[in-house]
Amino acid sequence: MDKLVIEGGKPLSGTIVIQGAKNAALPILAASMLVEGKVTIDHVPKLLDIDVMLNILRELGCRAEHENQTVQLDTSTLQSSHIPEALMRQMRSSIFLMGPLLARFGEVTIYQPGGCAIGERKIDLHLSGLQALGALVVEEGSRIVCYADELTGAEIHLDFPSVGATENIMMAAVLAKGLTTISNAAREPEIQDLQQFLNCMGAKIIGAGTDTITVEGVEKLAPCRYQVIPDRIVTGTVMVAAAATRGQVTLLNTCPAHLTSLIHVLRRTGVQIAVDGDIIKVGTATRPKSIDRIVTSPYPAFPTDLQSQLMVLLALADGVSIMKETIFEGRFKHVDELTRMGADIRVDLSSAIIRGVSRLYGATVEATDLRAGAALVIAGLAAQGKTVVEQVHHIDRGYDEIETMLGQLGARITRYSPIPNNIIVP
Ligand code: EPZ
Repeated sequence: MDKLVIEGGKPLSGTIVIQGAKNAALPILAASMLVEGKVTIDHVPKLLDIDVMLNILRELGCRAEHENQTVQLDTSTLQSSHIPEALMRQMRSSIFLMGPLLARFGEVTIYQPGGCAIGERKIDLHLSGLQALGALVVEEGSRIVCYADELTGAEIHLDFPSVGATENIMMAAVLAKGLTTISNAAREPEIQDLQQFLNCMGAKIIGAGTDTITVEGVEKLAPCRYQVIPDRIVTGTVMVAAAATRGQVTLLNTCPAHLTSLIHVLRRTGVQIAVDGDIIKVGTATRPKSIDRIVTSPYPAFPTDLQSQLMVLLALADGVSIMKETIFEGRFKHVDELTRMGADIRVDLSSAIIRGVSRLYGATVEATDLRAGAALVIAGLAAQGKTVVEQVHHIDRGYDEIETMLGQLGARITRYSPIPNNIIVP
């Protein structure tokens, strides 16, 4: 398992170009299964999660190439809708394939994706949405088989604005007969990107980005070429890293409108932020101020995917801040690791009480999930001394060579890969 070794205490400075959005690319790659032919997706970063998704598509019979941030798919050879359990367990986002494969084949077999470090990750809203469209869902242990001779448009209300369920239902409804409305839909930018992509192939969807999405079923789609939006969570991660190291950083190829909640919070801590088109400039030379209360909620509120990163900045703030996590019940696993670096944070049920300290100290810490790992990297950059972050594969799921990305901003960060035990070093 790779490790990152970080020499902290140096302000980040310089300019960086932001990668394409993992959480837009994954559903768009899945949605490509709705059409027969060659589909090209640009601005797709090289990530473990993308690799897993492409391996699943190959396993189902697709041809898939990923070169220089562009994915070339040929779905004309797609021949199976049975997602192997081993691959399903590697990445729960393979659940996104359920809707498209059901719409294309009339049958799909998946396996319960299971929980992960951040929470139970239920899929009941996905299944009930597909049932509303006419699917028969048969659960046999962890195996789930969905059948539908024909999908028919329906009025669907989500009890919770689930991102994945909204996307799965959208994709299944595209080729259904008639009109589908999804109320209390999730409003994330990645859902808007999925709508854009599907409409680029001839779908008729409106409302993504609002809480009501309408899909008018069509007979057939046509392949297209599409570019994925910038990754707002990677953008936010770099912004917080710049603030936590008291640096000056310019971020290019961003979408500031996707980050209004973070920009607002960072400005409240005293960080200077300038926005000009797709450019964000972040800078500060002073200790951040604390924030009385931050609550993670569905978009456009403060995103759960930036909670752990912001906690690092607040751990260094002048004063006490309270963060409440309302999306995932297990998303405070980074707190123990930050405490080992000298942070003063106490978790009380779904809230973390963060008493700012003047400095953090390097330590050996373990990434428990994707965004917690990114937070530990930020903590290592801000800390005095050396930090070793272990289990780096969690971070590689969502950040394309995080050490190279931050190294462009002057970070002293090196990756160490263990020598495979079948290689004898003379
Ligand atoms: C997406 O996950 C993102 N992943 C997550 O990003 C993100 O944290 C999450 O949305 C919330 O914004 C991708 O887009 C690939 P949800 P998803 O369905 O779709 C409950 C990252 O770090 N729920 O909105 O799985 C669920 O238990 C990842 O990039 C049900 O109860 O999120 C959770 O508490 C982490 N039943 C809440 O909703 C369901 O059927 C949010 O889940 C589905 C979800």
